[in-house]
Amino acid sequence: MKLKIALQKQGRLADGSADLLRKCGIRFSNGFGKLRTEAIDFPLEIYFLRDDDIPDYVADGVADIGIVGDNILAEDVKPVDVVERLGFGKCRLSIAVPKTSHLNDLNELTARRIATSYPQILREFLASRSIAAEIHEISGSVEIAPSIGLADAVCDLVSSGSTLFSNGLREIQTVMNSEAVLIAHRRIDGERSHILEKLLFRIRSVRAASQNKYILLNAPAEKVDEITAILPGMKSPTVVPLANSGWVSIHSVISEQDFWNGVDILKRAGAEGILVLSIDQMIR
Ligand code: PRP
Ligand code: ZN
Repeated sequence: MKLKIALQKQGRLADGSADLLRKCGIRFSNGFGKLRTEAIDFPLEIYFLRDDDIPDYVADGVADIGIVGDNILAEDVKPVDVVERLGFGKCRLSIAVPKTSHLNDLNELTARRIATSYPQILREFLASRSIAAEIHEISGSVEIAPSIGLADAVCDLVSSGSTLFSNGLREIQTVMNSEAVLIAHRRIDGERSHILEKLLFRIRSVRAASQNKYILLNAPAEKVDEITAILPGMKSPTVVPLANSGWVSIHSVISEQDFWNGVDILKRAGAEGILVLSIDQMIR
């Protein structure tokens, strides 16, 4: 019995998805143009598909789970469960115009043509701002629409921004933000749900690890209380005496988000020789 997962074949999410599985200790060979493969050390069967098709496959149960951008689900609601936000594949759906265009503001788009593969999201967005623009739905290569005279603006996904840049476009408005999510078929039962639990456990450990750093520092013994108050750690920090009497080494975990602020406060509290290491897995 294997759990079937659908991943994007190629595109923005393909590398991140494979990377996440690898960090979960799941190895697989992904030969060029391969449609299907089996993981080596985990009961997982992997399908490589077009991202836009993945929600349908998962809704139908052809695949049990899948990784897609939540922009795809927002455009086309499907009967699947979003079981975990994955924190990679971050991008935004934005309205952009040619660099040379005099259009600068959303309000100036009234009666203009906007090309997009996301007509539903765009329609709702424009309606919420009471802007009556004309939506041209096209299924791909949206970025070339203005240069061939098909539209005055585009509404497309922007990640690094290089697609917009190389097509002479500039963003004027963000419509929505998106990231990769793990979706699941509504009814996964028995052994498969068991495998999904195991996979989710690993994914959550990897995610927690990526959001935290392992921190080691030296401090005068009398500063331990002050410093451990800043670094609560998972249970409490480890404090070990240094050979140099009157000094200790403190080991703990700090969230990536608090890290830079935390370091300033620690230095002011007397911490020295601060080392910060990445964590591979973190099980609470
Ligand atoms: C999106 C979008 C752009 C590109 C933007 O495509 O349509 O082509 O990513 O990325 P950039 O800002 O880094 O250049 P996606 O990966 O969703 O592929 P698809 O449109 O073929 O599904
Ligand atoms: Zn796509």
